[in-house]
Amino acid sequence: MLEQYLNWPRQVRDSLSKWGTWSVRGDFTHVAVFGMGGSGVVGDYLALLSLESGKYPVIVVKSHIVPSYVGEKTLAIVVSYSGNTIETIMAFENLLKSGATIAVVSSGGVLKTMAQERGVTYVEVPKGLAPRASLPSMLYSTLGLLDSSGYTLVSKSAAENSAEFLEEKVSEAVEAARDLSKWLYEEAVRAERLPVVVTHSPLEAIAIRFKNELNENSKIVVKVDIAPECMHNDVVGYEAPTTRRLAVLEVVDPSNEVGTKLVDFMRSIYSEHDAAFYRLAAAGRNVLEKAMYLSLVAGLASVMLAEMRGLDPAATKSIAMYKKKAAEIFS
Ligand code: F6R
Repeated sequence: MLEQYLNWPRQVRDSLSKWGTWSVRGDFTHVAVFGMGGSGVVGDYLALLSLESGKYPVIVVKSHIVPSYVGEKTLAIVVSYSGNTIETIMAFENLLKSGATIAVVSSGGVLKTMAQERGVTYVEVPKGLAPRASLPSMLYSTLGLLDSSGYTLVSKSAAENSAEFLEEKVSEAVEAARDLSKWLYEEAVRAERLPVVVTHSPLEAIAIRFKNELNENSKIVVKVDIAPECMHNDVVGYEAPTTRRLAVLEVVDPSNEVGTKLVDFMRSIYSEHDAAFYRLAAAGRNVLEKAMYLSLVAGLASVMLAEMRGLDPAATKSIAMYKKKAAEIFS
């Protein structure tokens, strides 16, 4: 798994070499991204990027249910690394009836066959990785598709700059991940504290990615607090919590002064408990670079933590168990 993450710059370069291969035509008012788990995160990151550079909203759908407003003005991007996830296949089938223009991103599977049979734009990413470790391939292929279709969120040159940035930052990310994984091992595993990832908007997608990586690779339960929203609900839960021991991972963008002050405020709340703190600062010149750097640290640290615990980071047996049952649940 570590190798898969260390190869991220290569994944970005490979996707860049195919930039321009895929495009769709149409006049859309919004983009809706469908997908679950490690594939669904592509939608989260596109939505994050659209906040800064998008001229249209990006809607993220992590469900088999297609919203009723999806129609002819929708560009629907269906992402499933395996191409075999039931919720995503069901969404695809419903999208076929909606009038939306569809593009499918996968490494093969049922969705590849279905897309090709229906003449739907099909973007193929390399096979053989864990879906979560394939984030750069799925994300950059989708960014290339959007750019080539006239719906640019990230231009090719900005994507190329980010590839260079990531190449330069790999060893820094490895060091940051090593330090963070040791801290998590001490505070969350040995001291049995509940890990809380706290961040500020607009970085919610990154905190959720951290949680997912720690869930799937390290096999631990994690809570996410996003400021300022968490000051309007979660914060009250800390008045009389059942679990007082917290391992608080603060993910901040130092260039966001208000965001940093909001996270500082939350520290005063957690400090009333038996809390340990770790602050991780984003590196990068723009949202894409920050998201890629922090995601790389999250991936590496979560794999390292699994290894310290003697667990296999790649195995996700509960997901496999669910997937076996899912056909029955949805039938
Ligand atoms: C991440 C992971 C899961 C899958 C999810 C959906 O590595 O294993 O979160 O991403 O179960 O499967 P795919 O991505 O194949 O559609």
